[in-house]
Amino acid sequence: MALFSSSTRQIPQAAAMPRHVAVIMDGNGRWAKKRFLPRVAGHVKGVELVREMVRSCLERGIRYLTLFAFSSENWRRPAEEVSLLMELFVKALQQEVEKLDRNGVRLRVIGDLGRFDPKLQQLIREAEEKTALNDRLDLTIAANYGGRWDIMQAVNRMLAAQPDKRAGWEEGDLEPYLSMQFAPEPDLFIRTGGEERISNFLLWQLAYTELYFTPTLWPDFDAAEFDKAIASYQQRERRFGRTSEQLTEKPNA
Ligand code: IPE
Ligand code: IPE
Ligand code: MG
Repeated sequence: MALFSSSTRQIPQAAAMPRHVAVIMDGNGRWAKKRFLPRVAGHVKGVELVREMVRSCLERGIRYLTLFAFSSENWRRPAEEVSLLMELFVKALQQEVEKLDRNGVRLRVIGDLGRFDPKLQQLIREAEEKTALNDRLDLTIAANYGGRWDIMQAVNRMLAAQPDKRAGWEEGDLEPYLSMQFAPEPDLFIRTGGEERISNFLLWQLAYTELYFTPTLWPDFDAAEFDKAIASYQQRERRFGRTSEQLTEKPNA
């Protein structure tokens, strides 16, 4: 069946494609452990799968891809793993930005970037500037990101912008200050690696997102696996609080 094929010539109908896919890329360590390799080997393989995921989104006309690369809680890992992850991040930026740019990908990094090495911060800024005019795919990497941090930084900036306002705040007042203000909310959330939790990823934005959990480890999550997730998404009925019958009624009926 076409839906389950990884062939680029058999892509499911564009109309039913999610516009925005958000992914927790989990399971790198376990993938490496199964092969008696150091954890970092799993992260290296994981970067390859990010490349494949970007390619898949471009081929399928998915407009926004948001990837959780490093959570604000991941600093708790052994110092050696953290610094290897940072090195990988730097290397990936240096090696991939040119190609992303050529393919019309706009790169953004969201999160509390102040805690990163100044050199890494500089690379991030350069990559964002270089790709700022691209509009085929918005690729967002969440790094030192936490959903609660995001909401709090937005609240603080919202309050600072209107210091005299005391009450009557609405959701729409906060949204321009959230890290993902430029994108529609995710249609499809994927977590690989078997855990069924959000781990402080996009808390505000996932309110009505379809959730997909798979035991497949991130380094094994290839285009065929992605197509399974999309096929699952396409079978869901997104009611947003309405009844099933309302969805088939004509608009304004
Ligand atoms: C996800 O893989 C990558 C990061 C969190 C950076 P893990 O490193 O969490 O892999 P597991 O969960 O230990 O298998
Ligand atoms: C967190 O993964 C999100 C990322 C992939 C960066 P973890 O593997 O650290 O998640 P928990 O802490 O086990 O939930
Ligand atoms: Mg993990």
